[in-house]
Amino acid sequence: MSNTLKVLFGLAPLAAAFPASVLEAVKFHPGLQARANEILQERQAGAAAAQAIFEPIPLFNAAEQYVNISAGSGHEYQAPGPNDLRGPCPGLNAFANHNFLPHNGYATIQQFIDTTAEVVGMGTDLAAFLAMICNAEQTRYEGDASPTRPDLYEAGNDYKTVARQFEQLISMSPGGQVTLDSLTAFRSVRFDTQIANNPYFFNGPFTGVLVQPAAYTFIYRFMANHSAEAPYGDLSYSTIASWFGMTGSPGSYVANQGQERIPDNWYKRALAYPYSIPYFQQDVLSAAALHPKFLNIGGNTGTTNSFTGVDVDNLTGGIFNAADLLKGNNAACFAYQFAAQAKPDIALSVFNLVNQALGSVLSVLGCPQLQHIDDAQLEMFPGYQKSTQAGITK
Ligand code: HEM
Ligand SMILES: *[C@@H]1O[C@H](CO)[C@@H](O)[C@H](O)[C@H]1NC(C)=O
Ligand SMILES: *[C@@H]1O[C@H](CO)[C@@H](O)[C@H](O)[C@H]1NC(C)=O
Ligand SMILES: *[C@@H]1O[C@H](CO)[C@@H](O)[C@H](O)[C@H]1NC(C)=O
Repeated sequence: MSNTLKVLFGLAPLAAAFPASVLEAVKFHPGLQARANEILQERQAGAAAAQAIFEPIPLFNAAEQYVNISAGSGHEYQAPGPNDLRGPCPGLNAFANHNFLPHNGYATIQQFIDTTAEVVGMGTDLAAFLAMICNAEQTRYEGDASPTRPDLYEAGNDYKTVARQFEQLISMSPGGQVTLDSLTAFRSVRFDTQIANNPYFFNGPFTGVLVQPAAYTFIYRFMANHSAEAPYGDLSYSTIASWFGMTGSPGSYVANQGQERIPDNWYKRALAYPYSIPYFQQDVLSAAALHPKFLNIGGNTGTTNSFTGVDVDNLTGGIFNAADLLKGNNAACFAYQFAAQAKPDIALSVFNLVNQALGSVLSVLGCPQLQHIDDAQLEMFPGYQKSTQAGITK
């Protein structure tokens, strides 16, 4: 079991799996984007909270939002066997355990896109981007300060659920509910804890700016249960515990590796409001507005508490500076462009496909063109160096 868990959730070879319709699917929701920008402006003018709702009108439709995993549905929970691949992502693991994705853990990009939309309402733009980045990297990307997974060079793995971290999230979430606010407060504590404990902590330009927040916002945006009373979603302790494969109760949770399950009687987000790239981006900025350190690119330099930031200006040949990152689409543009960087070990055809998809992301976001990315500056961070040597994108 633990051996199979080491591998990133398997993906079939891209060339065979990549349908033309995927690029078509990389599209945005202009109404939602406009409303999100409005809310962000309101928020910047007033109260700060991580929880910003972008759905202009609360909607709930039980028949449409119900995810049927009951007996006879074909989607009953089935624990992974010894030859089934499970990886660091609780969402994908749960989908495979319920046969929404192939139970053996190998899926095509189209299956990732269809399934994430069908089961949890992920936007096709975000799903296509994640699936392609994971695939193009062949191995995986890895961000530090994840919610329940340890840092790679702290624990020797980055995929096993750490019950203590789950307990910490629960203890920081009062009133029986995990919220985007409690998740963001927890992220801030995890960030500081890793600086204080992991000599190799690294907050990378892509993984720190986008992968790390995704690991937190996805928990609320995709795992919460929806209802007429709670159209934006409630995430009770028992609902999140199921999704993370935890049994027990606060103070005595036990992690069951690879056993993530969709809760019984669970309702996904409203179909009209997929969690798309612009939506996600606003969540990223809301969190960074509360905790500006989230956008500090840099890391520890080989000892604990040695966090050193890099000059974003230099990293990008003067296109962005640290103060700019909180404005408009800058943080997302900055991170996507790092993600798009060529890696010598990626086959050219794969890289071109990623670039095509990213090209549409970047043009819709109106990103300034980065001429030069100077990642030599990142070499001073052992967490970055060790990962690139091991073929992992930080
Ligand atoms: C195409 C779709 C997806 C891909 C390729 C993907 C991939 C990944 C990867 C590679 C990680 C590990 C990142 C790291 O080590 O820092 C991760 C973490 C995570 N994913 Fe996904 N994911 C996808 C969809 C989802 C969905 C739909 C959900 C929720 C239902 C989800 C929830 C999470 C959470 C909560 C984490 C953080 C786990 C933790 O540390 O506690 N993901 N995902
Ligand atoms: C869920 O699926 C089962 C098995 O197909 C079916 O009997 C049941 O009516 C479905 N429930 C709902 C609410 O659709
Ligand atoms: C989701 O909410 C509905 C309505 O309140 C409730 O009947 C159902 O049990 C809830 N599901 C979960 C998993 O909490
Ligand atoms: C950043 O750029 C400035 C101005 O070109 C230069 O003086 C400085 O040495 C650079 N810093 C790094 C770390 O490259």
